[in-house]
Amino acid sequence: EKGNYRHFMQKEIFEQPTVVAQTLRSYLRPVEQQVALPQIDFDISAVNRVTIVACGTSYYAGMVAKYWFEQFARVPVDIDFASEFRYREPVLEAGGLALFISQSGETADTLAALKHCKAEGQVIAAVVNVPTSSMAREADLLLPTHAGPEIGVASTKAFTCQLAVLAALAAHFAVKKGRLDASEEAEIVRHLLEAPAALNAALDHDETIAAMAHLVAPARDVLYLGRGPDFPLALEGALKLKEISYIHAEGYASGEMKHGPIALIDDKVPVIVLAPSGPLFEKTVSNMQEVQARGGQVILISDEEGIAEAGEGCIATIPMPKVHPLIAPLVYAVPVQLLAYHVACAKGTDVDQPRNLAKSVTVE
Ligand code: F6R
Repeated sequence: EKGNYRHFMQKEIFEQPTVVAQTLRSYLRPVEQQVALPQIDFDISAVNRVTIVACGTSYYAGMVAKYWFEQFARVPVDIDFASEFRYREPVLEAGGLALFISQSGETADTLAALKHCKAEGQVIAAVVNVPTSSMAREADLLLPTHAGPEIGVASTKAFTCQLAVLAALAAHFAVKKGRLDASEEAEIVRHLLEAPAALNAALDHDETIAAMAHLVAPARDVLYLGRGPDFPLALEGALKLKEISYIHAEGYASGEMKHGPIALIDDKVPVIVLAPSGPLFEKTVSNMQEVQARGGQVILISDEEGIAEAGEGCIATIPMPKVHPLIAPLVYAVPVQLLAYHVACAKGTDVDQPRNLAKSVTVE
């Protein structure tokens, strides 16, 4: 079943160009250059607030979506971990859409939050990978990801497929709200259609990343930094590393470093910086330089342009294709997944079955 791959996780990382393309096919009309969502029997333009609820990696996909919904559709977004949402007495006003994101569609906390929102009269949308799951059955608007079965406990391809669906949903929302005209919609569709090739180009650097695993494997702590929609990718990179390599890792919004976490920096702490070129590049790089000035050992993930501008003084660089900021979170998922994977292999941990973890968390 693993074919030529050593692990399911590795196979699933490499499936991403295919499954993201497959997922996008059911949400985009390439010829018309339009977004196409499944039939919805409510007026999405009337939605005045989106509440996103999920756990773990799916929650990070939701965090990225918050940037998109706010930027494109100008709709306010709340997001919470399902385990927190359930017990904090959230205010759910009429006209709200509650959006649940889950690979399995069975995560106990997320499912309970969904039922609560349903009882409170919210419209329920669910981005799920298992079409027969409980969440899929309960949703008013089912938005499937077409990642295929995900066997590795660490989620990889489900995440990028979630991002693909969420980007299409954000664009659809924006069109319905009159925030995007036809040419802007077409532009978004074009960028999204570039994602599969860009994911392939990112995967081409697998060996480069494998060759730098020794820089991270001996570390006790690792930090990941990103800004804007790439901040959740820093959190995701840290989660991947801790769950499969058992190295303590944290993700921070780069601008938060100087408010405390920078005290952690010394020459034993690898710092992975996600900095695609774009509107946030300069700011991220200046935060990175503050880290370097304190002896931080930076591994920079950027495109050629970004590496040429800021790569000096880094202990390693991981080149990514130059992509539109919209698809950067999908593309930059690949290097953080591969880095975690190769570090875990270098440490000899059980990549597909990490200790203490289960694929589907059906208890609270
Ligand atoms: C991390 C991981 C978990 C899941 C989380 C939610 O690699 O796999 O954090 O993302 O348990 O699971 P789903 O998406 O099935 O609700």
